Amino acid sequence: MEVIVRPDADSAATLAARLIAARLRAKPDLVLGLATGRTMERVYDRLAAMALDFSGCRSFNLDEYIGVPAEDEHSYRRYMDEHLFGRVNIARARTHVPDGMAADLGAEAQRYERLIREAGGIDLQLLGIGEAGHIGFNEPLSALMSRTREKALTAVTRQQNASMFGGDASRVPARALTMGVGTILEARELLLLATGPAKAAILAKAVEGPITAMISASALQLHPHCKVVLDEAAARALTQRDYYDWVFHNEPEWANYQE
Ligand code: F6R
Repeated sequence: MEVIVRPDADSAATLAARLIAARLRAKPDLVLGLATGRTMERVYDRLAAMALDFSGCRSFNLDEYIGVPAEDEHSYRRYMDEHLFGRVNIARARTHVPDGMAADLGAEAQRYERLIREAGGIDLQLLGIGEAGHIGFNEPLSALMSRTREKALTAVTRQQNASMFGGDASRVPARALTMGVGTILEARELLLLATGPAKAAILAKAVEGPITAMISASALQLHPHCKVVLDEAAARALTQRDYYDWVFHNEPEWANYQE
């Protein structure tokens, strides 16, 4: 794992977008795993402004609320259409979001796993972190080997997402269909972006604490190619900053990202 700290949320999002752009330019048929949420909005703004060629790319989103139709303003499909897909040249048929309206959610989960396999697996998976420590919607006690499945959301997560539902946590759906921790760990490269003070405590536990199913983001420590990009606010509880900064400023792979 490498931890990169940038001065603010804008420069952290810029670095994340530049990494994604570099992978897409190097492999035009990139299989990209995507996340939703407020943190990613800045990343998608930047990707949309970069005039990249997404025509050969395929995408798989991490999750979707159960019982929210794709066309609903709160669906993650709608979020993706608005923040990225509608702004770049990717055909809708090449974009995938789990179907939270499927009559048989177990079958939908298996279909989603099969589609990822048939695409050859995910090259680069973009991740956020929830205040409950989730990646995707893998709430506490998600098995580290879990696959795409239905998951009940914690009160912390519903409160975190309440602002998208008029500030009312009770209106946030109680369940979601999400890639599992095991599904996420199979991506060839992981990129987690976290910004803001609300993420500082959980982020430090995920990166520097023990691996535990109570904090699914701690499973990223198992992955051989994982980058964690933070702003100062999200990084403030980390204890090994000097080392992380030294790596960023000295390792050749980061030479083009110093700004
Ligand atoms: C969303 C997802 C979640 C979010 C996380 C952070 O698809 O998978 O794990 O990335 O909840 O959300 P924000 O960025 O809104 O704080």
